[in-house]
Amino acid sequence: MSLPTILVVGSLNVDLVTNTPRVPDAGETIQAESFATYFGGKGANQTVACARLSRLKTENGIITAPSTYIRMAGCVGDDEFGAALKNGLKSDGIDVDSVEIKHGVATGVAVILVEPSGENRILITAGANGLCQPSASLLTPAPALLVMQLEIPQNTVLEMLRLAAESSPPVATLLNPAPASRLPDSAYQRITHLILNETEAAILGSGGAAVRTEVETEMMEDCRRFTQEFVNKGIQGSVVITLGAKGAFWHDVKAGHDGLVPSEKVQVVDTTAAGDTFIGAFAVKVVNGNPISDSVAYAVRASAVTVTKQGAQASIPWRDEVPTPAS
Ligand SMILES: Nc1ncnc2c1ncn2[C@@H]1O[C@H](COP(=O)(O)OP(=O)(O)OP(=O)(O)O)[C@@H](O)[C@H]1O
Ligand SMILES: *[C@@H]1O[C@H](CO)[C@@H](O)[C@H](O)[C@H]1NC(C)=O
Ligand SMILES: *[C@@H]1O[C@H](CO)[C@@H](O)[C@H](O)[C@H]1NC(C)=O
Repeated sequence: MSLPTILVVGSLNVDLVTNTPRVPDAGETIQAESFATYFGGKGANQTVACARLSRLKTENGIITAPSTYIRMAGCVGDDEFGAALKNGLKSDGIDVDSVEIKHGVATGVAVILVEPSGENRILITAGANGLCQPSASLLTPAPALLVMQLEIPQNTVLEMLRLAAESSPPVATLLNPAPASRLPDSAYQRITHLILNETEAAILGSGGAAVRTEVETEMMEDCRRFTQEFVNKGIQGSVVITLGAKGAFWHDVKAGHDGLVPSEKVQVVDTTAAGDTFIGAFAVKVVNGNPISDSVAYAVRASAVTVTKQGAQASIPWRDEVPTPAS
C-alpha cells in the first residue's frame, strides 16, 4: 500500500540571530552577547512539521512508521547554508530531490538582531527563494496535497495553484498566505484549504478591521464574516483562522458547518513555529482522510506542544509527542 504524499513548495532560509545589549549606531562597532543559526523559512518549517507529525523517532534516533510521504520543492544557493538546509530536511525523512541548488546565488537568509527587551530587527534576503519557479513536473506523480506559503514569488504560487487545479484529477491544495498579501480573486477557486491567522485574514479580506478576540461572540462573528468572503470567492474545502492563545476557528465548506477549538492550556515558553506546526499537523490529518473538525482539533494539540518548547525547528514535535485528547 502506498502512502499519501504531501508536496510543499516554498521557502528555505537560514536565520542568523545575534543577541546584543543594544543595536549599533551608523558607523559603530560593538560587542554582541551571542550568535546562533537556525534553519527556517516557512516552507521548510511546515515541511518539517508534516514529516515529524507523520513519523516516530526512536530513542536511538531512527525515524520510522511514516503515515505520509513528504516531499519539498524550493531553491537554495550553492553555499554551505543551502547544503546544510537540504541535509537537515533529509535527516527528518523528507524527500529533497526537488530542492534545487541555484548556482551563483545565495541561500535565503534572515539576519536578526535581538535586544535584551526582546525587540527584534530583521533583514530578510530572499536569495534563491526569489528564483523559485513553477513547474508542472512537480505534480507528476501527483501528490495528495500541495502545500504553499507566500515566501516565494506570488506568481509561482498562483501558477502552481493553476497547475494543481487543472491536473486530472485535480490536486488538492492548502495555502497559508504568509507573509500576507492580497490574492487575485481567481486564485480562491483553486485553493482547497485556506489557513491563516487573524492578521492575515484582515489583510486578505475586505473591510480592514482585524478579528476582535476579546469577546467570543464577536470573535466568532468576525471569523464567520471573513470566512464567508473567502468561501464566496471559491474556497472549496475549508477555511481555518488561527487565533493564537484563543485557539482556531474552522469552517468546513462541504459539510456546511463551523466551530471553534479552544487552545490547550499550557505553559507557554516560545510561540515561534506554532503556526507552522499547526499547518503540518492539519495537512497530515487531512491527507489521511480525517474530517476538517478532527484535523483542526489535532493541529491545536500539536501546536500547543510547540509553544511549550524553546525556539528552533527543534520545537516541532514528532507524532508520539502529541498527547491524545483527554476524554
Ligand atoms: N499561547 C498559546 N497557548 C496554546 N496554544 C497556542 C498558543 N499560541 C498559539 N497556539 C496554538 O498555535 C496555533 C497557531 O498559532 P497562531 O495563531 O499564533 O499562528 P501564527 O500567528 O501563524 O504563529 P507563528 O507565526 O507565531 O508561528 C493556534 O491556533 C493555537 O492552537
Ligand atoms: C500572523 O502571521 C504573520 C506572518 O504572516 C505575523 O507577522 C503576525 O505577527 C501573525 N499574527 C499574529 C496575531 O500572530
Ligand atoms: C522556522 O522555525 C524556526 C525554528 O522554530 C524559527 O526560528 C523560525 O523563525 C521559523 N521561521 C519562520 C519563517 O517562521
